[in-house]
Amino acid sequence: MSLPIETERLVLRRFTLEDACDLRALVADVSFSRAVPEMEPTGLGILRYIERQLAYQAFEPERVFDLAIERRADHLVIGLLTLVRRDQAGAIGWALGVDFRQRGYAAEAAAAMLDYGFASLGLCRVEAETSVHNEPSWRLMEHLGMRREGRLREATVEDGKPLDSYLYTIRTEEWRAARLCHAAPVTPKEEEECPSDDSMPA
Ligand SMILES: CC(C)(COP(=O)(O)OP(=O)(O)OC[C@H]1O[C@@H](n2cnc3c(N)ncnc32)[C@H](O)[C@@H]1OP(=O)(O)O)[C@@H](O)C(=O)NCCC(=O)NCCS
Repeated sequence: MSLPIETERLVLRRFTLEDACDLRALVADVSFSRAVPEMEPTGLGILRYIERQLAYQAFEPERVFDLAIERRADHLVIGLLTLVRRDQAGAIGWALGVDFRQRGYAAEAAAAMLDYGFASLGLCRVEAETSVHNEPSWRLMEHLGMRREGRLREATVEDGKPLDSYLYTIRTEEWRAARLCHAAPVTPKEEEECPSDDSMPA
């Protein structure tokens, strides 16, 4: 599997400079721009963000690497997905424009990203973190089959106030079970490269 990643309604692909206009509309809403601190919500800030993303190799370790979520029906960029790789683990994140929520787009895109991460990148574990108040985000994590691993005290700051976060994780074998609700078969690669439950540290 290689980029772009296609789903029924979406294409997950690298950003291009032509996406600046769509991003400008998305960052106009503070709930989007707050979730993407790497993108300063100005015309110049958006261009710089895209240029930085273009300079990265796809899924380069330790990079905040983002994919544009493009809607197939009208080619609009409706949001983005982040995956940061660290060895055989990854951290996933997401943000949709305010007009594109509550339609299952985030779940569809994130499921495809998890699929790609486990099957093509050989990840063994993916984590996600969100403020305890961000119910749409942690509900999405639960919808994907991720498990709440803990509450991180004052791990995030919103409007200058420290807030607790939830940490959710999912491992290969858990995704294999959860994805029966989402997409296609798991490749053998992850079975070869990821330690089994028995050999994983507690
Ligand atoms: C977090 C975020 C991506 C979640 O988006 P979302 O659209 O709510 O998530 P989903 O794609 O899972 O959609 C789920 C909802 O769509 C509904 N839905 C409508 N049509 C659907 C369809 N065809 N398929 C699936 N779900 C559908 C579901 O019923 C569900 O509603 P519910 O939550 O009331 O049960 C979004 O709220 C967002 O971008 N927030 C701002 C940025 C942010 O906070 N990011 C996280 C930072 S940690």
